[in-house]
Amino acid sequence: MNPPEGHLSRQVAGAAFSIPSSLLQALRCARHVTVLTGSGISAESGVPTFRDAQTGLWSKFKPEELATRGAFQRNPKLVWEWYAWRRELVAQAEPNPGHLALVELERRVSGFTLITQNVDGLHQRAGSRDVVELHGNITRVKCFEEDQVVPTWQETDETPPLCPRCGGRLRPDVVWFGEMLPADAIDRAVAASQSCNVFLSIGTSTLVHPAAALPFEALQHKAMVVEINPCSTPLTTRAPYALRGAAGQVLPRLLQML
Ligand code: OAD
Repeated sequence: MNPPEGHLSRQVAGAAFSIPSSLLQALRCARHVTVLTGSGISAESGVPTFRDAQTGLWSKFKPEELATRGAFQRNPKLVWEWYAWRRELVAQAEPNPGHLALVELERRVSGFTLITQNVDGLHQRAGSRDVVELHGNITRVKCFEEDQVVPTWQETDETPPLCPRCGGRLRPDVVWFGEMLPADAIDRAVAASQSCNVFLSIGTSTLVHPAAALPFEALQHKAMVVEINPCSTPLTTRAPYALRGAAGQVLPRLLQML
């Protein structure tokens, strides 16, 4: 199951490409497949990525004004409203063929772990059962003071709305810059990266740590690492296979050939 020795990243471009047979064979034999997704997998559902030049959220907005604890303390209304806008975008989006292909892959392999950096919940809505969410979920809120999830809340004249328990401000249950990832999620993600035979890195720029370290962790533990992304990332030249294309096209093709 090891990547072929001395094998440089094999970049395969175009929607009609054939998937290398050695990759298909590795997937067929794999006892455990681990998948890491980033915002690119939801791009075809109309959810913007972060760093794509024209369309990425961070090309239009400043993360330090919207995605840190300090930003929320300075301007809670602005931050709440920005996340409310994104929550609405996500509510209107539908899972795409890339999300659905991963549901099918989970059915076909004996051991499967899906790790996502996405907060949009589209994997779960597609039917993926056990999703390791590294950066939280935008559809949930928690109390800024108590750091506890609040199951239901009401929009009132107060923005952000207040915690029904303690009266503190509510915030989205996502990980902001400078915050720790949920310990159980990162522990499971590292363990699954270290124990898998095949690791798929899909639609992520591989720039934000600790998630960005996971494919390299898998490489160190002799997994066959495959990147699916239309653009290069720091992983591209290290991954035995880099399938250049949109996840919504490449993944269904991969499943079709498996
Ligand atoms: P980025 O915006 O950094 O990267 C998105 C990646 O998806 C890029 O490499 C694109 O080339 C690729 N991409 C675009 N369209 C695609 C498609 N149709 N199919 C496959 N790939 C496609 O997003 P992330 O890597 O997810 O963190 O960003 C990581 C974290 O940075 C996010 O979770 C978020 C952000 O700040 C927090 O908010 C904590």
